[in-house]
Amino acid sequence: MLEKFDVTVIGGGPAGYVCAIRASQLGLKTACIESRGTLGGTCLNIGCIPSKSLLNLSESFHKAKNFSKLGIETGDIKLNLSKMMKNKDKAVTVLTKGVEFLLKKNKVAYIKGEGSVLQKNKVLISNKDAEEKIIESKNIVISTGSQPAGLPGVEFDEKKILSSTGALNLPLVPKKMLIIGAGYIGLEMGSVWSRLGSEVHVIEYLDHITPGLDKEISNEFMKILKKQKINFHLNNRVKKVTKTDHEVTIETIDSQNNKNTFKGDVVLISVGRKPYTKNLNLEKVGIHCDEKGRINVNKNFQTNVENIYAVGDVINGPMLAHKAEEEGIAVAELIAGQAGHVNYDLIPGVIYTSPEVAYVGKNEEDLKKISINYKVGKFPFMANSRAKAIDQPEGFVKIIAEEKTDKVLGVHIIGPHAGEMIAEMSVAMEFGASSEDIARTCHAHPTFSEAIKEAALSVEKRQIHS
Ligand code: NAI
Repeated sequence: MLEKFDVTVIGGGPAGYVCAIRASQLGLKTACIESRGTLGGTCLNIGCIPSKSLLNLSESFHKAKNFSKLGIETGDIKLNLSKMMKNKDKAVTVLTKGVEFLLKKNKVAYIKGEGSVLQKNKVLISNKDAEEKIIESKNIVISTGSQPAGLPGVEFDEKKILSSTGALNLPLVPKKMLIIGAGYIGLEMGSVWSRLGSEVHVIEYLDHITPGLDKEISNEFMKILKKQKINFHLNNRVKKVTKTDHEVTIETIDSQNNKNTFKGDVVLISVGRKPYTKNLNLEKVGIHCDEKGRINVNKNFQTNVENIYAVGDVINGPMLAHKAEEEGIAVAELIAGQAGHVNYDLIPGVIYTSPEVAYVGKNEEDLKKISINYKVGKFPFMANSRAKAIDQPEGFVKIIAEEKTDKVLGVHIIGPHAGEMIAEMSVAMEFGASSEDIARTCHAHPTFSEAIKEAALSVEKRQIHS
């Protein structure tokens, strides 16, 4: 007799494990299959968590080197990279074990191995250390995530030609690091290695960094990163990447058709990610994907096979852990007969550089495209007392409100703790706030969040402190 489940989730990342916990909470007998050996997916193992650990540790190192300017004498500051990496690994272990505990606590059956869809209601689990196993399931949720996209003809060796995985595990600080792609990964990892002593060069084929970000924020962001000695080579399309034992070479063509050559010790290729659907047996079961390899789903996350669902990076939308988690919860609730839903208009984005960049809602370029009239309020951290007191005066808050109704349509922040502050704006926007609502809300003094209140006041040109 085959073991029977109500829900089987294939993939234990933020979409999958969250879906499994929620399904079990709702009284559904649930299994979660994961092949990595640890839960948490890319985010916990080789993405968000190790990168945030290294961002924090490298920033501490960078700050410590400048302590004497602040009147703190600490003597020689030295980097112990292997200890730093161990600290990062510890954070990963604690959190992935934590997810395993959560599955147990919520009575989810955690099955180690690679899952594939054998038939509409049957999942095969292969594991090189154990016998193949088949389970029966009323519903199947695919949440197998994504992997680095790479460039045609270039193979990641994770020593000289790196994906984000290799860039999180270098044994030595490279003298010169080349980065292809000025997106989230390139700029976060570029910041880490630049702070630890690398000369960092970012090569990008667009004429600006961070595509999709509000242009004014993106321009300010690049100015600040340049001051931090990160070098940018925009309008450069990468044609060829080659390596020897000692160096890597990148050949590009720029927008004037000039050929350029860049040499470095290592190259990080961060040009996006692609859905991971290998070995799932999708074709045999007849599940349709789009031209980018993403599984097609309807608004209830159902594939064209009714009882098989997909959520997270493997479907359309921004490849963000929090978007995946929301979808995981929504699909579990839908399967249980509830009204699960995700508000795709309000998925925040955060880049964890220093200063941080965060946004929620529409930017000016989006609104121009859809011909919506708007007004803008802005406030610089230079005029925020907390930011000045602790010498973090870079950046600003920008609030965009609909011209007639004053409803907030988008908030964009570059500045200290932007990633934490954006949550206030997500809540406000979920409740349909106007800029006046925010302007009339008392914010504690002295806090960075006062810059949000002042930006809201500035929508009607009545800010007090600038
Ligand atoms: P990305 O899509 O953010 O940026 C890729 C960049 O590479 C773009 O600017 C693109 O124009 C450029 N590019 C593409 N091909 C190129 C070529 N041949 N030559 C030069 N430039 C080229 O992708 P990224 O940074 O790899 O991140 C992947 C995913 O991971 C994203 O969806 C991102 O949302 C997510 N992520 C999120 C983080 C966060 O929330 N803080 C952190 C890290 C990743």
